[in-house]
Amino acid sequence: MEQKTITLVQNSFEKVKPIAGTAAEIFYSKLFELDPKLKPLFPNSDSSMKEQGNKLMTMLGAAVAGLSNLPALIPVLEGLGKRHVDYKVEASHYDTVGAALLGTLSAGLGDEFTPEIKDAWTTTYTTMAKVMIDASY
Ligand code: HEM
Repeated sequence: MEQKTITLVQNSFEKVKPIAGTAAEIFYSKLFELDPKLKPLFPNSDSSMKEQGNKLMTMLGAAVAGLSNLPALIPVLEGLGKRHVDYKVEASHYDTVGAALLGTLSAGLGDEFTPEIKDAWTTTYTTMAKVMIDASY
C-alpha cells in the first residue's frame, strides 16, 4: 500500500476516534439495515453490542496503526479471519461490512470524507478483508 493512502487513513481515523461510541452505533444500524440477517451473528443485548462496537474500533485502530508494517499485520489478520468462520461469518459478508464502514465514516467525517479519503479507506478495507478471507475460505 502506498504511504499516501496510509497517511490519509491514519489521519482521518484520528478524527473518528473521539466519536468512536457514536460511530459504532451508526455502524451497526447501517449494517443491520443493509442485511438484517446478520443480526443473529452478534450477541444481542445492547450492552454487548456496544462492547462489540468498541472491539471493532479498537481492532480498526490497531490495523490502521499497523498499516505501515503490513507484513507484521498479516498473521494477525489471518488469525482474525479464521476466528470469524467460527462466528458464522461468510466471505460475502465482508462486502456488506465494508459498505457499512464507509457509510459510517461518511456520516462521522461529513465534508471531510473527501473522495480521496474514501478511496484510501476502500483500499485499506479491501486489503484487510482479502487477507482475512484468503486465510479462511
Ligand atoms: C476488516 C474486517 C473486520 C475486522 C477488523 C473485524 C474485527 C473484529 C474483532 C476485533 C472482533 C473481536 C473478536 C476477535 O478478535 O476474534 C470481531 C468479532 C466479530 N465480528 Fe468482526 N471484523 C471484521 C469483519 C467482520 C465481518 C465481515 C463480519 C460479518 C458480519 C463480522 C462479524 C463479527 C462477529 C459476529 C463477531 C463476534 C461477536 C462476538 O461474539 O462478540 N466481522 N470482529
